[in-house]
Amino acid sequence: MTVAFVSISTVGVGFGLTFYLYERFYVDNQKDLLLLQGRNLEAVYQEEGNSDLFQERLKWVNEDSEAEALFVQNPMKLSASLPYEPSVSESFINFEERQQLLQGETVTLVRQHAVIEQDILAVAVPLLEGDRLSGAIFLYMPLDDVYQPFESIRYILLGVMGLILLVTFWGGRKVANQLVLPLRKMEAASKKMAGGDFSKRIHVSSTDEMGSLASSFNQLAKSLEEVEENRREFLQNVSHELRTPLSYMRGYTEAIMEGDVEDAEKEKYIRIIHQETDRLTRLVHDLLDLAQLEGDSYPMRLEPIPFAQLVHDVVDRFRLRLSQKEIPLKLDLDEEAVIEGDPDRLEQVFSNLLDNALRYSEKGQLIEVKMVQKEGKTVLVIKDHGKGIPVEDLEKITDRFYRVQKSRTREAGGSGLGLAIVNQIVTKHGADITFRSTLQEGTEVSVVFDSLEMD
Ligand SMILES: Nc1ncnc2c1ncn2[C@@H]1O[C@H](COP(=O)(O)OP(=O)(O)O)[C@@H](O)[C@H]1O
Ligand SMILES: [Mg+2]
Repeated sequence: MTVAFVSISTVGVGFGLTFYLYERFYVDNQKDLLLLQGRNLEAVYQEEGNSDLFQERLKWVNEDSEAEALFVQNPMKLSASLPYEPSVSESFINFEERQQLLQGETVTLVRQHAVIEQDILAVAVPLLEGDRLSGAIFLYMPLDDVYQPFESIRYILLGVMGLILLVTFWGGRKVANQLVLPLRKMEAASKKMAGGDFSKRIHVSSTDEMGSLASSFNQLAKSLEEVEENRREFLQNVSHELRTPLSYMRGYTEAIMEGDVEDAEKEKYIRIIHQETDRLTRLVHDLLDLAQLEGDSYPMRLEPIPFAQLVHDVVDRFRLRLSQKEIPLKLDLDEEAVIEGDPDRLEQVFSNLLDNALRYSEKGQLIEVKMVQKEGKTVLVIKDHGKGIPVEDLEKITDRFYRVQKSRTREAGGSGLGLAIVNQIVTKHGADITFRSTLQEGTEVSVVFDSLEMD
């Protein structure tokens, strides 16, 4: 709407102005022409007086140009009806103009002619003999004649104006569409997004600002979609993880309550219920941990840590489980290594990794833990000779709830949150973690920290 209005008014004003200026210019030109003819006649009169030559010149002007020329001996006779009825008394020129003539000044005027009822453009040149006004030359043309050429020009101009209007209107609409259409689409899409539908994308092929806005919008929509997808998946996983132990517990308690279970069986059931409660407790604990780590609410409490000591402490807690599974542990630690970190969190990292090594190894398979310092880094390596991880799973292993072959590992007891937690903590320490694994041969996990230089 505004575009239409602006283009119409611009073109309108432009043409109006052109037309007005052109008209002014043309009318001025005609006026000058009349004046020039008047001056020429005046010159002849000054030379020859009211002679035959002068009259002949007067005739020429009458016949050869659009102007009518008239010689009046008594200027007072320039009356309203001139030139048709000189007798009509009312003066064509008014008092002031007559005074001007008497003083020898040329008079130009545009006025209605009483008899022909037309506007005329007129020039009156006084003829002076010494101080005395002896007569006047009166040249005039009907304004119709002046304006005649404009009739055709007006139509041409109007036509061109219409054409330009059409073009601007059409072009304006196109431009507006190019601008407005993608915005409209974005508006519609963002409304859908507010309602939870993130599937809409904006198709804009242009490379201008609108194009880059649209692609940013699409990126936003894509990441929102991913966040939403993530959230849904997470909820599904959580509820699944909760449901399984709960259904076990329900099943076994019901069996016990019905009463027809032998005592030995009963004890076994109760042990399973206890295990499942443990699992639930760990799961809830891990979930809370992960939520804290993923949010920024719990920053790391960084302090210098003698890293080997921390590893020894954790290993001590694993001794019983290691000996139960008859797994030998080879420790090779640089006792000098000091890093900066949160001791509780780093214990969590190492115990999770050691737990995996133990959990996914068979009876008697060696686990090696090595810590070396090189080039300002402290590298902790946990290597087992267990079942290993398939290559295609390696990169997803730190995802929440991700487990290789879910059924295989459920018996082993993991929920798939351990490495997600490890990854979060490692990242928050500015450290790097890498997994290398070969199926049936074993897994090697390296965590690289910055060494803390002690002075
Ligand atoms: N040392 C390892 N050897 C073999 N598989 C492993 C090892 N560490 C992790 N995995 C695989 O990665 C999955 C994710 O590990 P994690 O996040 O610790 O979850 P879980 O609670 O199952 O231990 C495990 O379920 C297991 O399949
Ligand atoms: Mg684990």
